[in-house]
Amino acid sequence: TEPAPRAVDLLVWYDRHRRVLPWRALPGAVPDPYRVWLSEVMLQQTTIAAVRPYFEKFLARFPDVASLAAAPEEAVMSAWAGLGYYSRARNLHACAKAVAEAGRFPDTAESLRKLPGIGAYTAGAIAAIAFDRQEAAVDGNVERVMSRLFAIEAPLPGSRPEIRRLTQALVPADRPGDFAQAVMDLGATICTPRRPACALCPWMMPCRARHLGTQETFPRKLKA
Ligand code: ADE
Repeated sequence: TEPAPRAVDLLVWYDRHRRVLPWRALPGAVPDPYRVWLSEVMLQQTTIAAVRPYFEKFLARFPDVASLAAAPEEAVMSAWAGLGYYSRARNLHACAKAVAEAGRFPDTAESLRKLPGIGAYTAGAIAAIAFDRQEAAVDGNVERVMSRLFAIEAPLPGSRPEIRRLTQALVPADRPGDFAQAVMDLGATICTPRRPACALCPWMMPCRARHLGTQETFPRKLKA
């Protein structure tokens, strides 16, 4: 049977293979909550490749939360034009106003969740990445990684609470933001939906599905 997965094995892999992305702070640098928040909202329903140029353009136009809060709605919508899911832009603008009004960014997952358009995933991601909170950020990619790692037989979406618990239990007190982004990178580059590159995976040894040879059959999904 498999050894228990350890966060440190994933972090060592991340230090070597992390993707360079415009919203990521350089190793050792303090992340900017505004950039983290903006990137997570843009990435909610849009791929990294599509987000990249919009992120740069949006930041050039609204370099901080105060400038975004002060901007007219039409200016925000026009900077967002082409990204789709426009309620995200309206929520973003409303968030900026609330944060500017409060004078500071909410810095816990619980308080972030109260902002418009910020659900459990985004709140966890911002809390971990921007504020070093020991929080999990579970999206579809993370669900795939975890369902394979633990060979979770119960189908999505019912298995979500269990996947959340298992992910949360792995989050290290040290470097929770790097851990969140490492799981995302693992899901995007190694633990892919088809033909995962298990031989390159830092969690190959503890992976229960890999052990069984059934990795591509996870996550199980409820038949429509
Ligand atoms: N998808 C959503 N957030 C991400 C992040 N911070 N890095 C890479 N992919 C992501």
